[in-house]
Amino acid sequence: MNGRGREHRLPAALLLAIAAAVGGQPALADVDVADYQTPGVVRSERERQRLQAEFARQREQEEQRARIEVEEQARLAAAEAARLAARPYPLRLTESRCTVCHAATHFQQQAHTWPGWLAVVLRMKYFNHAPLASDEIPVIVGHLAATHPAGGIDALIEFGVLPTALGVAALPLLWYRRRLKAGKHA
Ligand code: HEC
Repeated sequence: MNGRGREHRLPAALLLAIAAAVGGQPALADVDVADYQTPGVVRSERERQRLQAEFARQREQEEQRARIEVEEQARLAAAEAARLAARPYPLRLTESRCTVCHAATHFQQQAHTWPGWLAVVLRMKYFNHAPLASDEIPVIVGHLAATHPAGGIDALIEFGVLPTALGVAALPLLWYRRRLKAGKHA
């Protein structure tokens, strides 16, 4: 009698389990559906309004922060512009004239004597066609010679080589003038 009872109980339990799995209504437990929804899902109108107000407040804060950032940038830019404009004229002139074609590093990394810088600037003007007014040249050369001076052996070489080179270049001219004079006398 016991043995037969167990035989019947097993299929009954199986059937119950299958019925529950296939189509059985879930037991009505004391559970809120909202508990299964993602936290972002709005649960009520009041909650929705509270969240909206919160979003609006955050957006306002964000915009305020962005405005302050922009104002700060503008203030810094104006201060920087004022600082740049307040620097000495020769420095500003050199910067504005000598950074048209290449970076300032081109001449900032170099060191020359006054005649050496004159040669560089003249080369820029006549060979590279740098737009320089003639009264600007001594200002720029003076500034460069003062801020990027050559010392020691470099200075000696520049002072020695440049006049020599100029002298050699002038020789044909002298020779031509002498010939002209000689021609007049003859
Ligand atoms: C119109 C364009 C132009 C302007 C403006 C210009 N340069 Fe140059 N510069 C060049 C070119 C091109 C070179 C590279 C060829 C050469 O060395 O001549 C150069 C090269 C140089 C060099 C490196 C060559 C070297 O001698 O070792 C120096 C230094 C230099 N420039 C200084 C200046 C200074 C100082 C000024 C302002 C007075 C100036 N440049 C303005 C075109 C320009």
